[in-house]
Amino acid sequence: MNKATSPRYERVLILAPRGRDAVVAKEILRDAKLHSDICLDIPELLQQLHRGAEVAVVTEEATRGDIRLLASWVSSQQPWSDFPFVILTEHGGGLERNPAAARLVNTLGNVSFLERPFHPTTLMSVVQTGLRGRQRQYECRRLNEELESRVAERTGELAAANHQLINQIKERENVESTLRQMQRLEAVGQLTSGVAHDFNNLLTVVLGNIGFVEKGLAEAGLDGKLTQRLGYMRAAAERGARLTDQLLSFSRRQRLEPRPLDLNETVVNMRDLLQSTLGGTTRIETRLQRSLWSAMVDPTQLELAVLNLAINARDAMQVGGSLTVQTENAVVGPPLRPEEPPAGEYVSVCVSDNGSGMSEEIRAKVFEPFFTTKEVGKGSGLGLSQVLGFAKQSGGGVRINSRLDQGTSVHIYLPRAEPETAKVTAAPLRAPWTGAPRSATILLVDDDNEVREITRAMLRELGHVVLEAGSGGAALDVLQREAGIDLLVVDFAMPGMNGAEVVRLAHGRQPNLPVLFVTGFADRGGLAGVDDAYIVGKPFHYEELASKVQFALRGKRAGNVVPLRR
Ligand SMILES: Nc1ncnc2c1ncn2[C@@H]1O[C@H](COP(=O)(O)OP(=O)(O)OP(=O)(O)O)[C@@H](O)[C@H]1O
Ligand SMILES: [Mg+2]
Repeated sequence: MNKATSPRYERVLILAPRGRDAVVAKEILRDAKLHSDICLDIPELLQQLHRGAEVAVVTEEATRGDIRLLASWVSSQQPWSDFPFVILTEHGGGLERNPAAARLVNTLGNVSFLERPFHPTTLMSVVQTGLRGRQRQYECRRLNEELESRVAERTGELAAANHQLINQIKERENVESTLRQMQRLEAVGQLTSGVAHDFNNLLTVVLGNIGFVEKGLAEAGLDGKLTQRLGYMRAAAERGARLTDQLLSFSRRQRLEPRPLDLNETVVNMRDLLQSTLGGTTRIETRLQRSLWSAMVDPTQLELAVLNLAINARDAMQVGGSLTVQTENAVVGPPLRPEEPPAGEYVSVCVSDNGSGMSEEIRAKVFEPFFTTKEVGKGSGLGLSQVLGFAKQSGGGVRINSRLDQGTSVHIYLPRAEPETAKVTAAPLRAPWTGAPRSATILLVDDDNEVREITRAMLRELGHVVLEAGSGGAALDVLQREAGIDLLVVDFAMPGMNGAEVVRLAHGRQPNLPVLFVTGFADRGGLAGVDDAYIVGKPFHYEELASKVQFALRGKRAGNVVPLRR
């Protein structure tokens, strides 16, 4: 905007205390349509300057007194301001002959001298020059302010962008660390399941042979120290098998049998067990949500998980602590940590204690297998890994809230069952075999020589004729060659062709051939949909193998062959 053309109010101050000087000056200015105010002394001039003016016309003699206050006003002006003074000097009072005038230049800065007597036009032109200069200063102030406000605006924008960037970086770091943790857990899971699979093969061999030695000793009528030692060996091997089971549940490769379950009922039924596990001094409180949704979960595994949490709580509490088990319908948002469930509807069971709690450092590690803070022999560090494995495999997750010295609560989230799914009670499948076992021809397929050897020995012991194959391909050859095979006993995890593929091809040729899978659990996902009655888990007992073989053979007579999803 062009200030020079816009209407404006300009005020000239006049300080000329002697005679009629002030009145004369005011009249001259009025003739030129300029507004002016007369001041009687320096203090009044200062007061008016504070109120605002554009030029001051001051007689030199009026400045002869104390002008320190005026000087300090001049020096405290804003950077854009340089207030114009017109000094009316005495005749012959030019700068060169008047040291007092020189002092005014120093103190007042923007000074024009006009020697009296002067022509009115001269006064007018000097005042006009001062006014124009002042307007330029105002314009300069305006531009300066505009610039400052633009800079402030831009600084604000930059700060906001910076803030946003920092947030994005933090978010990315969080996502990356979650991802890293997930990958680590996944890698550990794969490793664990591989180890567990091999372990199950070894344990099958160990337990199978122990069984034969026990039987041999019993037949020879030897029943003493040796049998006792064998009992120790069996107990140790069976403990190994349980440990392997825990590893498998961490790596989410155990076989789950989910069904719609009322968690309130589960919690109520577990009360006695929990109380006896925790001891009489621990108070147990249950808070059960009314109209709790049904959860889709394996009941046995859930009970194990709750028990695991209760034992952890017991270990974290002093005598006389209190444990709360709570059920809840939960609608959860996107997960913030890898152990949490995906967004959705869940039924949650939460075990809380008022024990020692955990530091953030410990909390970050509790799901790692074998992480424990307990003394040697007191904890294997598999409890929570197992709980997490189970919850994730069930389609849910886990959330831990913990505060040092205050307590811990662990939520297990389980997927909500579809409302229309009828509740079923899983009846364990038994093979009620009444007739005498008959001898059958069995084709045994396993890539592990020792496992195959012990399985063959057991099958022979049962009175069957056993043909063997060390791979899927070899098994198909035998099937092609030999007629009259009654049953295929096949290991699931084999290099090249796995058990399920062998069965599919075999059924292509002999649709009614009964099948029994042997599996080290490592890849139970591949056997989803196959009934447990047709699966023998390694390490297996002689009795289990015997009853499942009979069951499968009976199926042949009934024309009821193992179903396998294609
Ligand atoms: N309720 C709890 N309060 C405080 N710390 C806990 C709690 N639950 C677990 N922890 C911590 O987490 C660690 C790992 O727990 P986890 O159940 O996996 O293994 P563990 O209890 O040490 O051994 P295991 O369960 O195999 O016998 C514990 O050693 C303990 O430090
Ligand atoms: Mg534990």
